[in-house]
Amino acid sequence: MDALVGPIVKWAGGKRQLLPEILPLIDRDCTTYVEPFLGGGAVLFQLQPEKAIINDYNGELMNVYRVVRDCPEALIQRLEEHRAASCADYFYQIRAMDREADYARMSPVERAARVIYLNKTCYNGLYRVNGAGQFNAPYGRYKSPRIVNAPVIRAMSRYLGKKGIKMMQGDYREALKGLRRGAFVYLDPPYMPLSSSASFTGYTDSGFDYDQQVALKRECDKLRARNIPFLQSNSDCPAIRDLYQDYEIRTVRAKRTINSDKAKRGEINEVLIRYVPDKG
Ligand SMILES: C[S@@+](CC[C@H](N)C(=O)[O-])C[C@H]1O[C@@H](n2cnc3c(N)ncnc32)[C@H](O)[C@@H]1O
Repeated sequence: MDALVGPIVKWAGGKRQLLPEILPLIDRDCTTYVEPFLGGGAVLFQLQPEKAIINDYNGELMNVYRVVRDCPEALIQRLEEHRAASCADYFYQIRAMDREADYARMSPVERAARVIYLNKTCYNGLYRVNGAGQFNAPYGRYKSPRIVNAPVIRAMSRYLGKKGIKMMQGDYREALKGLRRGAFVYLDPPYMPLSSSASFTGYTDSGFDYDQQVALKRECDKLRARNIPFLQSNSDCPAIRDLYQDYEIRTVRAKRTINSDKAKRGEINEVLIRYVPDKG
């Protein structure tokens, strides 16, 4: 375990504050830890399992982790350059890059440095894209944001470089295929919105609607049928309680830190849905 390993991007729905509730419900003796909606990876990086399958649909995010693993020094150098040049004008210049035709040809290191730089300097510090997949959070005006954290990047690079860590990028269902008994799955999907105005769907260009919550429940049923234990976080709302009525559901209190409306930041209930196979 390396104490330096921890999230390098702030992500909506980050689980850092709920770790005391989540960690005791994870089977640390599992043969493979599976996290198909990785986001900022607060749970993974706290556990640092030797064997893991990690995935997120967001290609920019998974590119960050691949670059951290494969080219940490080039990434640190590029972040230093961003740090030296940083100001509001520079932020908007870098932000605009994904609106340009040659964005797809940008190198993986360049793209990863851009995402980390924007994440550290944008308002509220989160990754948010519009329906066209373009980064759209405004400049944050922080006094001295930590744009480069070289020790954390190097420590994460060592961890992600272990041979037991398999990285994927795509739909969570791909990451659940072919799991063996002994695996443990932690699912942290985009949450079911509590109301249409309170929803955060800006992780990806495709969103995650009620039908997708229903499809996820079907995947959970398949895990149960294969005796594979799982834990899922979601919002505490009638639709989710109804969907998972034949599962163990715990209620936890969580602070909403990412909400553009200050008045709506506060404590809310979330649920932890769990399946543990019978022993024997
Ligand atoms: C609630 S966040 C995860 C938060 C994370 N556990 C953390 O601690 O920061 C949900 C993640 O699911 C991803 N996502 C959305 N749709 C997906 C899909 N169909 N398959 C896999 N990941 C998806 C989003 O990109 C986002 O990173």
